[in-house]
Amino acid sequence: MRDSFLPFAPPDIGNDEIAAVVETLRSGWMTTGPKTAAFEKSFAETVGAEAALALNSGTAALHLALLAHGIGAGDEVVVPVMTFSSDAHVVEHVGARPAFVDVDPTTLNLASSDGRWCMPVHLYGGPCTVGGKIAVEDAAHAIPARIDGITIGGRGNLTAFSFYATKNLTTGEGGMLTGPGELVERARAWSLHGMSRDAWRRYDGTGSWRYDVDRAGFKYNITDLASAIGLVQLKRLPDLYTRRRAIAGRYTEALSSFPELELPNEQPGTQHAWHIYAIRLHLDRMKIDRDQFIEELRVRNIGTSVHFIPIHLLSYYRDKYGLRTEDFPVATREFERLVSIPIYPQMTDRDVDDVIVAVDDVITRHRR
Ligand SMILES: Cc1ncc(COP(=O)(O)O)c(C=O)c1O
Repeated sequence: MRDSFLPFAPPDIGNDEIAAVVETLRSGWMTTGPKTAAFEKSFAETVGAEAALALNSGTAALHLALLAHGIGAGDEVVVPVMTFSSDAHVVEHVGARPAFVDVDPTTLNLASSDGRWCMPVHLYGGPCTVGGKIAVEDAAHAIPARIDGITIGGRGNLTAFSFYATKNLTTGEGGMLTGPGELVERARAWSLHGMSRDAWRRYDGTGSWRYDVDRAGFKYNITDLASAIGLVQLKRLPDLYTRRRAIAGRYTEALSSFPELELPNEQPGTQHAWHIYAIRLHLDRMKIDRDQFIEELRVRNIGTSVHFIPIHLLSYYRDKYGLRTEDFPVATREFERLVSIPIYPQMTDRDVDDVIVAVDDVITRHRR
């Protein structure tokens, strides 16, 4: 057994990120400025998007996407329940109504669309291929994921990325909205108080002190400190992703022989971003439940998590919309057997093997 605890998902921050922050601090420009402009440009190029808007969270990107489409009171947005709560929150923030739906049993993603606005989530980094009237793709987990060779973020829909500390690309906190130039510029108009020009242009010698405010906008801008980290992470992305993919491959190879487990896989025609490696327990083959399984891994010094508690089980949405577990049979059942095991670039082969050995040991001791 490991003698030290293996955390679930620490960020991978190296000397280059640290140097970039120090350089930015010394530059005298901390908030939104030249680093952010460069980050937006590089990110758009990386995913093949026409335009990109860097923000202080993925949630901000989701919110502004809905505003850019003019979604508001009287509109409904279809949201899969197997996701993070902020997807539903932003629908409420614009005064629209989230229409919650169950998910596909294999991918845990949205299974179909029906003419209403929808918010496909690329859960765990596994691409959701559903088309239709897409309000925004939630790509918080999905860098770099692909559908039919096209990188998510570059498919022509507004797409929201998160750079939260655990994500495949991190800036500590941060997010990016990509998509068609006109829609992204509409989102930009909401992103900094509704001010008519970027604050940094007012101070770079080319702007003026005068500005207008044409709406009650939000304070969603990212700092140049965060963007400096993002620029380095973007350069490292191919290597970071290669390592994630290798770890996923090692897990799949080692764990596929266990009849007690259902493993994630890459759907045909897609590239999985391997943000989260979520195994599912066949509970009928085990003498312990998911929570006990997690506890057994914890005592073996392996950190885990569960993604996510489906939205219909959260009290606010359950009570407000009268959501019943029987209306979401797939998400309700799958939630009970989900365990996310560690996957991040800094893991050594030894760490990965420790996880495999621990999983093997728990199953061997507790199988029926
Ligand atoms: C699926 C999903 N959507 C949206 C978000 C929101 O991103 P952020 O925390 O950057 O606001 C997250 C995570 O944090 C997420 O996991």
